[in-house]
Amino acid sequence: MTDLCQIRIQTPSATIEFVVTPEGRLLCGEAPGIPTAGNGWVFEPALTVVHSDGNTSTDLRVAGFSAEGDLTKIELEDDAYPFQVSLLFQTYPEDDVIETWTEIRHEETGAVRLDKFASSALHLGNQPFWLTQFRGDWADEVHLSEEKLTYGVKTLDSKLGVRAHQFRAPWFILSGGGPAQEDEGLVIGGSLAWSGSFEFDFEVGPRGETRAICGINPFASTYHLSPGDTFQTPKMVWAWSKSGKGELSRKLHRWVRTRVLRDGDRPRDILLNNWEATYFSFNEAKIVSLLDGAKALGMELFLLDDGWFGRKFPRDDDTQGLGDWMPDAEKLPHGLGILTQAAKERGLRFGIWLEPEMVNPDSELFEAHPDCVIRQPHRELELQRNQLILDLTRPEAKEFAFQVADRTLRENPGISYVKWDCNRYVTQPGSPYLPADRQSHLWIEYVRALYEIFARLAEAHPSVELMMCSGGGGRVDYGAMKFAHEYWPSDMTDPARRVFIQWGYSHFFPAIASAAHVTELGNRPLKFAFDVAMSGRLGMDMDVDKLSDADRAYAASAVAAYKEIRGVVQFGDLYRLESPYDGPRSTLQYVLGDSAVVFVYSLGNSPALALDLKGLGAGQYRVSEVLGVFEAEIVGGGAVLLPALGAYESMVLRVDRL
Ligand code: DGJ
Repeated sequence: MTDLCQIRIQTPSATIEFVVTPEGRLLCGEAPGIPTAGNGWVFEPALTVVHSDGNTSTDLRVAGFSAEGDLTKIELEDDAYPFQVSLLFQTYPEDDVIETWTEIRHEETGAVRLDKFASSALHLGNQPFWLTQFRGDWADEVHLSEEKLTYGVKTLDSKLGVRAHQFRAPWFILSGGGPAQEDEGLVIGGSLAWSGSFEFDFEVGPRGETRAICGINPFASTYHLSPGDTFQTPKMVWAWSKSGKGELSRKLHRWVRTRVLRDGDRPRDILLNNWEATYFSFNEAKIVSLLDGAKALGMELFLLDDGWFGRKFPRDDDTQGLGDWMPDAEKLPHGLGILTQAAKERGLRFGIWLEPEMVNPDSELFEAHPDCVIRQPHRELELQRNQLILDLTRPEAKEFAFQVADRTLRENPGISYVKWDCNRYVTQPGSPYLPADRQSHLWIEYVRALYEIFARLAEAHPSVELMMCSGGGGRVDYGAMKFAHEYWPSDMTDPARRVFIQWGYSHFFPAIASAAHVTELGNRPLKFAFDVAMSGRLGMDMDVDKLSDADRAYAASAVAAYKEIRGVVQFGDLYRLESPYDGPRSTLQYVLGDSAVVFVYSLGNSPALALDLKGLGAGQYRVSEVLGVFEAEIVGGGAVLLPALGAYESMVLRVDRL
């Protein structure tokens, strides 16, 4: 190799440094830059390869290097095989973010077997690290759980394939030297931009050195790479802060708004959803009446949820009809057009719920195409929520899923919003389409097919907004969110529990992307429910026809108030001031320019206590309660004494420079 001996990838807070030895080996500290299995490395590998002649070892040497703008590429080649690996690093210095991924290709005589193919191997040095994961389940997503990494390998993973994040989000935080703090200390955020199974291995070696090997979960996913083809791993996103989790999140939020979300610079509308209002039980008149209600409250967008379709198998509950995307003639005798027209006449946009990847066995689709689903031969079909997953590796199934959305949108140009749902994971990972010796490609090809569908849809309907939903937050990752405008965090809409769930998501996603709806769940005070929902993208999931006059008036004033503060909430910098995990009071602050909005939630009896505000410049500020009477004046960077609050009382405060 050349005289190049040091390669440095840098952002203001991060440096990834490689050394190239005289023999051309790439090292990071004393470890290989990309640890490969089979030729000396005895710890967790990033790459495990079986070459076409059966050799299970790989030995890479640096063969090239390029740095163009913010993209660095290190090319490696095996000494004994025409087998190449490129390590790519894209830096976003303004946000302290580095994306890294690998590309693998070869010109061997036959297919090469990839048994492990991580996107990133990060060498973190010898100090101790604490790991925060975001674990959960349906209706109980993204709880923070922190532990110290000790000797050996700690793995966080998903083996679910589809709706892959039901039990664990594909993101984590590493903190150097002690548990992660909000405003100080080194923290590193990691996230795989991939909607399928993932594996994050954190290994502390014998000398206390820590490595993170992150990528697609290789579990049952051996990939056979043909000569001449390139295997590109998904991007692993790393972000750094030397000032704690708060700054890390603010950097990631900016990065997500500018680099991930579609139209991340456009304010989001206030939405009425009929799901928790009607579930499957509605008709045309009911929807029109909800549209009237939405208009009266000042809302801007209506979303028709599950239950609008099915002919032979009307979708009156979740047991049938999925796959038959024709309006139910009983419920909607005039189809969707009359509803989109009714919305338009009321000055509302119209959205629709779709779950194109899924099918109920009791559907015309399944009757005609029983081989179109993921299933194992000789095994009884295993249902979740009475449904099966279309095998998107089959070109006809992939085309069908695209057409479901494309046709619905073409036939109904009045629809400008889609909620894309996905309500089960894989338990029998067989593809009736893939050949017997390529069954292990299912997990990867499924996600690739899904991304193709999303990309085609975004191209064909650029102005249609997409909500990513997966029975709640089963698909909230930087891969899927590239195609979406927002996500549905959870079917848990009790605001008392949403405070925790939204807190969890806020570590990696900005408020603009987080759909937060006022519902009856938990039977909390309406004000509390609104105050929690207003800290995200506000919506309602309630039968507005049934609101009392007082509640209707309150809802209308809350919607109007949100319009006043949404710029700060959706585009401001987030400061998590008081954690609900420490309770009973939990507070959030968004800052944009000279204004801030503070959300105060009391989950028990909170005594009167000063609250330190953050992120404000010097000067005098007026603090005034939104839809309330509290008033104060503070000096920038100062504290405000908040009154005692009882359980499920809350306040929203505007802070404006005088
Ligand atoms: C799961 C979603 O999370 C809910 O919001 C709702 O859309 C239902 N699916 C509909 O079946």
